[in-house]
Amino acid sequence: MTPASLTQEPQSVSSAVTRSAFFIVATINEDATSRAAVRAWCADVANLVRAVGKRVPGGNLSCVVGFSSDAWDKLFGEPRPAALHPFREFGSGERKAIATPGDILMHIRADQTDLCFELATQLMKRLEGAVTTVDEVHGFRNFDMRAMIGFVDGTENPVGNEAVHFTVIQDEDAEFAGGSYVLVQKYLHDMKGWNALPVEAQEHIIGRTKLQDIELDEGVKPSWSHSSLTTLDDAQGNEIKILRDNMPFGRPGQGEFGTYFIGYARDPQPIEQMLENMFVGLPPGNYDRLLDFSRAVTGGLFFVPSQPLLEALADQEPGAAPTIDVDSHDQTESEPATAISADGSLAIGSLKGAPRYE
Ligand code: HEM
Repeated sequence: MTPASLTQEPQSVSSAVTRSAFFIVATINEDATSRAAVRAWCADVANLVRAVGKRVPGGNLSCVVGFSSDAWDKLFGEPRPAALHPFREFGSGERKAIATPGDILMHIRADQTDLCFELATQLMKRLEGAVTTVDEVHGFRNFDMRAMIGFVDGTENPVGNEAVHFTVIQDEDAEFAGGSYVLVQKYLHDMKGWNALPVEAQEHIIGRTKLQDIELDEGVKPSWSHSSLTTLDDAQGNEIKILRDNMPFGRPGQGEFGTYFIGYARDPQPIEQMLENMFVGLPPGNYDRLLDFSRAVTGGLFFVPSQPLLEALADQEPGAAPTIDVDSHDQTESEPATAISADGSLAIGSLKGAPRYE
């Protein structure tokens, strides 16, 4: 069994939106050598992030690595994260949240594209021959933090302790404390259709004003607005949030305009509920009109181990008890499951590179 005190060691994930992000999804090749190579790679990731990040102080380089349910079973076996399962599809026909292949997710962020590029190159070099990349998206931060559709994105994200509370696994799955779940979807937009709508119609679809990014009054905001369908309450009426770090991407020359959706949470259920509300509707039929102009072309759910667990996974094979080098982690039982770094960044299974000089 994995000692909880070790899995909980804080790791840095920058909650600040960086200028650049690479999203790489890969499948693991079907042989024991490839699986062994991926396991060994788990212990390398932190060193690579550190080495690449050092070259640009303040470049804010980080990398989050996640594993799908199938990948977890193939690579590591038992114990497994309690809420990890294959991506659940929602909707039908044209409006469907589809599941697509993917064993490993790499979410690489930095304030410079060259840092993302170099880290991706180094990470992939170590995985050469062991994985097949099935999707790769290079996202950029848009003016005013605006999504491809022209609205400010990320406004309602939780910050600080609230973000930790909503994203980092604690006692509910003590063996995997310090970890997180991440759901990704690549969306392509019909920008011609979207831009042909009057701004007021777009505002009803999102539930906020376009220029100033102010939430519409309850009396004006439709029940099918994106904001209404993605706002969730628990049984006590408290709002349940997720942490999003969506990025626009595209190739104007090819007519490609997209949003890479990425949402972190301590349990996949709230993100899945949002997807159901968006794609099926609440009640069914009262769906998210953003989907009349946006099509999900990928979908994956991944577990993000805490940093020490990621390193320890290098030695965890199916059928073998995990081993953790206790001496290499100086965390004590009394430390919190996660913490906010001095730079305000969060801890959810990511590895951050260069120190920040500000
Ligand atoms: C086509 C892809 C998407 C685009 C362009 C998009 C864009 C936006 C925008 C512009 C906002 C308003 C500003 C903000 O609070 O961030 C927003 C809010 C939000 N979105 Fe999305 N979104 C997309 C997909 C999704 C998906 C798939 C989910 C969840 C599964 C989601 C969950 C949320 C949540 C929770 C909020 C905050 C709602 C609130 O508290 O008012 N979004 N999104």
